[in-house]
Amino acid sequence: MNANKAPWGGRFHEKPSSLFLQFSQSVSFDWRLYKQDIKGSIAHARMLEKIGIIDQKESEEIQRGLTEILEEIEQGQFKWSTQLEDIHMNIESALINKTKAGLKLHTGRSRNDQIATTMRLWVKEEVQKILSLLSRLQAVLVQWAEENVEVVIPGYTHLQKAQVVLLAHQILAYVEMLERDKEKFKECYNNADVLVLGSGALAGSSIELDREYVANLLGFSRISQNSMDGVSDRDFVLDFLYGASTLGIHLSRFAEDMVLWSSSEWGFLELPDAFSSGSSLMPNKKNPDCFELLRGKSARLISNLNRLSILLKSLPLTYNRDMQEDKEPLFDSADTVERCLEMLIAMIPKLKIKKSLCLKQSEDSLLFATDIVDWLVQKRIPFREAHHKVGELIGYCQKNSLSLDAVPSSVLDAIHPELSKQWKSFFDPHKSLERKKTMGSPNPDLVRKRILFWKESLKSSLGS
Ligand code: ARG
Repeated sequence: MNANKAPWGGRFHEKPSSLFLQFSQSVSFDWRLYKQDIKGSIAHARMLEKIGIIDQKESEEIQRGLTEILEEIEQGQFKWSTQLEDIHMNIESALINKTKAGLKLHTGRSRNDQIATTMRLWVKEEVQKILSLLSRLQAVLVQWAEENVEVVIPGYTHLQKAQVVLLAHQILAYVEMLERDKEKFKECYNNADVLVLGSGALAGSSIELDREYVANLLGFSRISQNSMDGVSDRDFVLDFLYGASTLGIHLSRFAEDMVLWSSSEWGFLELPDAFSSGSSLMPNKKNPDCFELLRGKSARLISNLNRLSILLKSLPLTYNRDMQEDKEPLFDSADTVERCLEMLIAMIPKLKIKKSLCLKQSEDSLLFATDIVDWLVQKRIPFREAHHKVGELIGYCQKNSLSLDAVPSSVLDAIHPELSKQWKSFFDPHKSLERKKTMGSPNPDLVRKRILFWKESLKSSLGS
């Protein structure tokens, strides 16, 4: 057999059209699976030796050949050829050029179970990288929250000022989201952690392959139980893309908050020069491009999930060549996630909170209306009545161009005899936060505790 020709040459009489070769090749993008593909092949060779399909010498030659190919690829010396469809055929052909024993390597194996195995190995490694980046981003956010732990800002609903919160509380909200993202990626890892090699093309093999042995060599925790599912399951890729998509949504929401905070209308945040751009026309501009791009990148992450879902939804069992299209969205999402996380980890420590402007924005007396209702309720006034009365007060203020804290005592006395004595104390943002009682609220003591919790729990994932 000529190692540079397609292995199915026996049945074919015509050469493949160059147009078809160009159209169908995947090596231009799947080459990057080389480490995992070679690792899988070495394990397969060792297993073939163990069950007596190849002898020790052949096994050693195959393993040496594959190791050399790995080095050639890493040193940029390997010649990838698009004449040979994919990574598997490129590597197999190079191996056969090195040793005749290479002709035996594909025993009991199909590219269908080979690619599924290779991708599972790749996804498992990628998840580990992303989990560690997520922990680092959490740590950077926690640090940022801690440095600004006394800063009060208005919190928003409907993008309208609602009640005061601690800035740290809002930052920690993103830490919670990232924790859920980690859970999704761990779930992906667990679903990828199954050895499918040994499924053959779809129906297993009549050679008694030792699948447990291969699973052990490759670090898979279990082996698949249905060969047809084994070659056609891409749920672990969907899981990855779902994790990346949700993470993209979270990062985009964070980015949007930062775009608002850095605007002159909000004024909470000074953007670092090193991570911002100016305008080619307007000398006054400093734009939050980094956050805008983060928001924009989420579109890729969301659509890559969609792309794979559409690809898979009508495929009959088992392997179909359509599935080759699973790789580009996977790689794109992995690369995008890594870049976004690295960018944020570097940028967040350089963001400056403008503390006095935050405080100024938190002194709007309407932000404390709900506190007044809560106080009245504790004086035994039914909630709906208290809500109505404070609403009336706000109407009165608007009619008379008054701020809520300047309502005259005579008006307050009509609501509750003790109200006017309390009145001024309602409008202190720090006191308002200290009054918060519920678990998970922005009460400063609770926020400080949560910061400590995160610092402690991130220690193990950061390996310090
Ligand atoms: N390049 C193919 C893919 O990524 C490998 C499997 C090809 N199998 C086949 N029967 N043509 O899906």
